[in-house]
Amino acid sequence: MNAPANGSAKDKDQVLIFDTTLRDGEQSPGATMTFEEKLEVAELLDDMGVDIIEAGFPIASQGDFEAVSEIAKRAKKATIAGLARAISGDIARCGEAVKHARFPRIHTFVSTSPIHLEHQMRKSEEEVLEIIAATVAQARNLCDNVEWSAMDATRTSIEYLSRCVDAAIKAGASTINLPDTVGYSVPDEIREMFRQVRENVVNADKAVFSAHCHNDLGLAVANSLAAADGGVRQIECTINGLGERAGNAALEEIVMAIKTRSDVLAYHTGVDAAKLTRASKLVSAVSSFPVQYNKAIVGRNAFAHESGIHQDGMLKNNRTFEIMTPDSVGAGKTSLVMGKHSGRHAFMTKLEELGYKLADNAFQDAFERFKNLADRKKHVYDEDIEALVDENIATAEDRVKMVSLTVIAGTVGPQAATLTLSVDGVHETVQATGNGPVDATFNAIHAIIPHEAKLALYQVHAVTEGTDAQAEVSVRLKDPESGSSATGRAADPDTLAASAKAYLSALNKLQVRRERGQQLGMTDELDLAARRGP
Ligand code: KIV
Ligand code: ZN
Repeated sequence: MNAPANGSAKDKDQVLIFDTTLRDGEQSPGATMTFEEKLEVAELLDDMGVDIIEAGFPIASQGDFEAVSEIAKRAKKATIAGLARAISGDIARCGEAVKHARFPRIHTFVSTSPIHLEHQMRKSEEEVLEIIAATVAQARNLCDNVEWSAMDATRTSIEYLSRCVDAAIKAGASTINLPDTVGYSVPDEIREMFRQVRENVVNADKAVFSAHCHNDLGLAVANSLAAADGGVRQIECTINGLGERAGNAALEEIVMAIKTRSDVLAYHTGVDAAKLTRASKLVSAVSSFPVQYNKAIVGRNAFAHESGIHQDGMLKNNRTFEIMTPDSVGAGKTSLVMGKHSGRHAFMTKLEELGYKLADNAFQDAFERFKNLADRKKHVYDEDIEALVDENIATAEDRVKMVSLTVIAGTVGPQAATLTLSVDGVHETVQATGNGPVDATFNAIHAIIPHEAKLALYQVHAVTEGTDAQAEVSVRLKDPESGSSATGRAADPDTLAASAKAYLSALNKLQVRRERGQQLGMTDELDLAARRGP
């Protein structure tokens, strides 16, 4: 196999991005992906400019072998690596799987730390040195591009690690990966490890050094960037930071840290950052691992602002509270999350965005209603605001308005409603029972406003997600004599309150129609004035 070794840097400041979502990422408990899902992820990684894709561990299963082989066949630009333990059968199988790639790589590893040598490998340092020389040479016979990793490198003495690296380079490895397998290192320490090993090994300049940091102490990205300062020019990482235990360094964070802070991190990568959000969503979907809301770069709150001060600043100049644009990571646009901390400025902007222009009084009224809603509901979505303003406009002229509603619901009936309505400004309260809380509520309305109109439709749906979502209720009332009908809609976090308001809205519409009908000589459908007697 004499394919050219891709994944080589264009200049000394390029940090190669080695993605191991399909290998280390897939090792996250519960993150197994299907064959088709792996192909889809690999295609996107290739397209977005990832330099090396570790497609799997071919010896692990037939499925892994087939996925690595197929990804190798399909990859257009990226180097395709497979992982192999320092075992002859693993390496041969890995060579078989990656050989189809335009740019294949065998990635073989062995433990080097005293604790692993004693308890896991049960081998001496000298024996492991021999294994390194033999396995790297075998891999090199199968593939021109060989990466060697020292598992648990950060808990290995610099002196022994340097001897191992020297052996691997002599046997033909062109990439030397020194993982922080257990996520134990801190930035200064890992920078020093790479600096010293590179200084100790005579042929160090014949290999690209690589960092592979786990996130057990939440330091994986910081350690990877410190490693770059120590001379590393390949960083191994995963989309969404997926990986064993607490995961690996997150690819999106590495790429954006390097891009955003190029003033102090004088490197660059070949990754198209505008595809990061898509990659994150895809990996989250196929691995069934949700992305933490406040996850850097790709979390759904990464470009969301709720506090009034931040929203006001953002409306004046987005650089006040954003160090990168959502566009730059393909995240659409900044969202000013409407909540109880939002101020008038943000609410006005949101209304304009939604196409509303309200006069001062109507705006003030809508703002107060919005604040009330935000106090009761965690997330106020655009749809909530639309429902709130629409309802506000619709009820402005209503003669019958709901003042309060208390409902006793539950399994032991009869269910009862205590309702107070304002009819032309006069309050009236009744109690009614019914076959269920909605029936009791509608009976209470009927008790205050007797009418002939029949319920022709009652529909409830959640305007937004979650158990605190606004319920939007539609009620259609039909007059049996004239056959005309009116539909009322209302939204409220309380389904029964929304139901009562929707019913009253339909009733008010019938009343308006009645008044207009009288002018046009049409029949009465209901007569609010007559209801109240002399
Ligand atoms: O964490 C680790 O040490 C690894 C190696 C197999 C590269 O994943
Ligand atoms: Zn790992």
